[in-house]
Amino acid sequence: MIHPVILCGGSGTRLWPISRKVKPKPFLPLIGEQTLFEQAAERVAGDNRFGSPVVVAGPQHIDLIEAQIGGAHRLIVEPSARNTAPAIALAAAMLPSEDIMLVCPSDHHIADSSAFRAAALAAAQLAQDDWLVSFGIAPTHAETGYGYLHRGEPLTGGFEIARFVEKPDRERAEGYLASGEYSWNGGIFAFRAGHLLDELSRHRPIMAQLVKQAVAEGREEGARFYPAAEPFAAIEGDSIDYAVMENTRRAAMVPADMGWSDIGNWAALQDALLDESAGQDRACVTKGDVDLDGCDSVLAITDGPRISAVGVKDLCIVVSGGDVLVTTRDGAQRVGKLPGAKNQ
Ligand code: GDD
Ligand code: MG
Repeated sequence: MIHPVILCGGSGTRLWPISRKVKPKPFLPLIGEQTLFEQAAERVAGDNRFGSPVVVAGPQHIDLIEAQIGGAHRLIVEPSARNTAPAIALAAAMLPSEDIMLVCPSDHHIADSSAFRAAALAAAQLAQDDWLVSFGIAPTHAETGYGYLHRGEPLTGGFEIARFVEKPDRERAEGYLASGEYSWNGGIFAFRAGHLLDELSRHRPIMAQLVKQAVAEGREEGARFYPAAEPFAAIEGDSIDYAVMENTRRAAMVPADMGWSDIGNWAALQDALLDESAGQDRACVTKGDVDLDGCDSVLAITDGPRISAVGVKDLCIVVSGGDVLVTTRDGAQRVGKLPGAKNQ
């Protein structure tokens, strides 16, 4: 049995003004009718090789999660946000140690669910043999916001990771891309719950200890579990990538060609929406009351006021909740730093 563990954290400020603290990126229907969180849960639903999901999230998002998730689930309510390593370790400490967990971020879009499930099964096989497995994505550009996996010796269904490098600088990212020997880390992982805790204890012993204490002293309320706040607050936050994956000697990857996008900004959303509607007009994407005349490669989304644009190129225009954002595609990475996005 594979236990999907869905992570809901982060603020998604680069998708302001639609993504906001009260309703961040995972809970928005950015592609299709369903939200990214609903899609994450749906990808593993109705297949008896996967158990019901364990969702790890902060208290401020409980209502959104319960409104959006259908069917059985468990919810681990983090007393404070300490990044992905403690969030994943909480779930690991609550699952049977021999069982496989499949860590699924809720801020991604995956176009091909069956390719995702096939990769998950291959990853679970490797995890059974005590590999910590990441999903490898073929890189398309020298992105510095991702982890990079250097392919090592072949394994059944995947490869050993010779080196895991989280968020390299531009120069190194360009070198990795040019070498053809690296994949992006998709941020999706499979491991045995007990093995993950062992590796965390090896590389971040204090964090592992505090997580175990927070679970031992936590309380159950129906399908919700509340880890103890005090030990959890004492944890020095870190991501699974830095805390474990860069340090372990048991890292492996399965290549996953599944139409993956982490929709990191408006330009990435535009690209993902164009992929979904291949064959139609590939240049502009609009939602709501929008009139474009002679425009090229424009994303225009509005929740009310009409957007009209003439003869512009490579622009993202987003109107939501009384805010208007206009950015070039190149500038889309910087949206999260705008005062409007930071001080919502
Ligand atoms: N529950 C919980 N608590 N979830 C969290 C927390 C937390 O404190 N922090 C982040 N998350 C969730 C986010 O919502 C997201 O779904 C996932 O964990 C990954 O966190 P991000 O903050 O989005 O990480 P990242 O995008 O900078 O980097 C990771 O993902 C990349 C691919 O998108 C890394 O794994 C990279 O190596 C990877 O390439
Ligand atoms: Mg992310």
